[in-house]
Amino acid sequence: MPVKPYNIEQSRALLKRSDELIVRGCQGHKRSHEMLALGYPVFTQRAAGARFWDVDGNEYLDYLMSFGPILLGYNDPVVNAAVQRQMQEGAIYSTAHPKELEVAEMLIELIPAVEMLGFLIGGSAATSAAVRLARAYTGRDKVIRSGYHGWHDWARPEDEGAPAIIAPLTLEVPYGDLDALEECFKQRDNQIACVIMETIRGDGPPAGFLQGCVDMAHRYGALCIFDEIKVGFRVAFGGAGEYYGVTPDLTTFGKACCNGYPGSFVAGRKEILGSQQCQSTWMAATFHCDLPSLVSIETVINEMKRRDGIAYQWKIGNRLIEGVNGVCEKAGLGYRLTGTGPMPTPVMESEDKDRCIAMLQGCLARGFYLHPSHPMFLSLSHTEEDIENTIAAVQESIADL
Ligand SMILES: Cc1ncc(COP(=O)(O)O)c(C=O)c1O
Repeated sequence: MPVKPYNIEQSRALLKRSDELIVRGCQGHKRSHEMLALGYPVFTQRAAGARFWDVDGNEYLDYLMSFGPILLGYNDPVVNAAVQRQMQEGAIYSTAHPKELEVAEMLIELIPAVEMLGFLIGGSAATSAAVRLARAYTGRDKVIRSGYHGWHDWARPEDEGAPAIIAPLTLEVPYGDLDALEECFKQRDNQIACVIMETIRGDGPPAGFLQGCVDMAHRYGALCIFDEIKVGFRVAFGGAGEYYGVTPDLTTFGKACCNGYPGSFVAGRKEILGSQQCQSTWMAATFHCDLPSLVSIETVINEMKRRDGIAYQWKIGNRLIEGVNGVCEKAGLGYRLTGTGPMPTPVMESEDKDRCIAMLQGCLARGFYLHPSHPMFLSLSHTEEDIENTIAAVQESIADL
């Protein structure tokens, strides 16, 4: 596979300019400075299918897919056509639109844990809504979290700027540790409104963990929220809850359900969401139920069913994990993909980190964008040949070390 002359000078120049204009230098989620320092491009010009072109004209097969939202592929013609049809009639209105009901009915029929739902914009809004609903339903204030749930104050990704006075309301437990969770509940009996957790991290949940969380929350009079923002529409339409056969009280969805549009939703048991407490909880905003997002959810569901998209993600993801791990193991490189097929998650042995990064840079030069640390995502636009070419690129990049 040819190694192209490869530079990211335009990316570098634009980032320098953005530091003067934009707080934290462009879209914070994308961690542009860290990525540039590792030799990754940080500005994209355009994308199509499973590929994107950076501002320096380099083409990459993408394994990050915008951090998860792109499921069918970038610039998907079916989604584009559906959204364009809708745009001829408008994006938002002064009143509700019947599409809200149609998409709600589709989701209720599709996902076992969805009996009622509310549409929002962005994953952080969905997790914040879920926490607010749980507080309203239980009449309690404290929240146990496990994982990343967005940028709002309660979720506390960083302390800077978040009011210290509310810090004691959010407690954190490590993923996969039921003993730690029980300890947290015990110490604050009758105060915990809910536990909210990312359902799949790293290698995925230990056996019985997700059901254990639901059962424990109920024993302590709290609700259990599954945050499936990354996982929903990937391991199963209903995320890990559906895949492992566990029903939480509430679930949050976003990212992949809209193929690049910003819609999200919070869903759950009718007994909870239909209660007087939840019905009187404010979770409204101007852009909720925007028609482009609703139409894209509808189109994504139809296309995923038609193309057996969940099974396809598992198939190509499992092959990627097996192939990449095989060549790395054979070559003695401390890089592995762990996790579930639809979300291969990279891990590097810390003592071999420099060689792992050099291998990833070799992949970039060959046109393959493999993220150094974030869970990766596949799309229906990745072909089986793309996967084989990626495995070959990893092998060649190791040979270059
Ligand atoms: C598990 C999880 N929950 C919530 C969020 C927040 O979503 P958003 O960035 O769309 O606000 C993210 C974003 O990465 C996420 O991965």
